[in-house]
Amino acid sequence: MLITKSIPETTAEVVKVREAGKTIGFVPTMGALHQGHISLQERSRKENDFKVCSIFVNPIQFNNPDDLEKYPRTEDVDLKMFKEAGCDLVFMPSASEMYPEENKILYDFGHLDKVMEGQFRPGHFNGVAVVVKKLFDIVQPHRSYFGEKDFQQLAIIKALVKMLKIPVEIVPCPTLREPSGLAMSSRNERLSVDDRQKASAIFRTMSRAKEMVPAILPQECEKWVIQELDSISGLQTEYFNLVDAETLLPVQEWKTGQTVRGCIAAYIGGVRLIDNILFF
Ligand code: PAJ
Repeated sequence: MLITKSIPETTAEVVKVREAGKTIGFVPTMGALHQGHISLQERSRKENDFKVCSIFVNPIQFNNPDDLEKYPRTEDVDLKMFKEAGCDLVFMPSASEMYPEENKILYDFGHLDKVMEGQFRPGHFNGVAVVVKKLFDIVQPHRSYFGEKDFQQLAIIKALVKMLKIPVEIVPCPTLREPSGLAMSSRNERLSVDDRQKASAIFRTMSRAKEMVPAILPQECEKWVIQELDSISGLQTEYFNLVDAETLLPVQEWKTGQTVRGCIAAYIGGVRLIDNILFF
């Protein structure tokens, strides 16, 4: 497994692979790997000749400096995990390699980045889009793998690819969960044992709400989930929205033919967690 830190070195490698007529699969990450990340790489391994992963804690997608500082960094373990998962090249640039000067690029995603995460984390999705576009330019993948765990991020990446006509196939991958139902996340490591147990209520409560559909109206369903979760001490829901899976616009009623996703953000013990499930 090759480890690169510079952009020209990385591009030189992928150009050789492309010239040999081989396909490139790409999994971008911020490290602190868990099985969720590895499931993306495993899918990439099955579908491509040359497997590239990146580890880069992208400063411009953190709207909270404290969150950036506290983001776990486990480089040695990450490299071992990627190697075992059959990765061929890991690109792990420094911040100055990626941003030799301050970023000035501003994308317009219309409604997509104004709601939910966009509302509570201003600038976050622009930072994600800027780094993913740069990474695509460097790695030149045929396919790139993204988790449904970050459902809105996936929608933004699809929109970016469409808007800029980037020749890459975006492959959505299902959310991996712990046995308790809690979505795997690097942030789970910051939870106490007690809070981790409490956090499993997020998925459990959304799943119970889903069973009430269509007998209950979308707005009632949203209220119910928030009330249930906020009754658990130490847990505070930031939002729970039922949205159209394509447009992310709020859903007022259940319509056949429409795919509805329930998306949530909640704080527990000072840690902000997000999750989502297919509702309808
Ligand atoms: P990161 O949070 O490290 O996630 C990297 C990829 O792993 C994302 O596509 C994410 O959706 C996926 N992932 C995370 N938890 C998962 C789980 N439990 N099951 C399945 N997939 C999961 O997302 C980012 O990094 C960054 O925003 C990035 C796209 C790398 C840009 O900086």
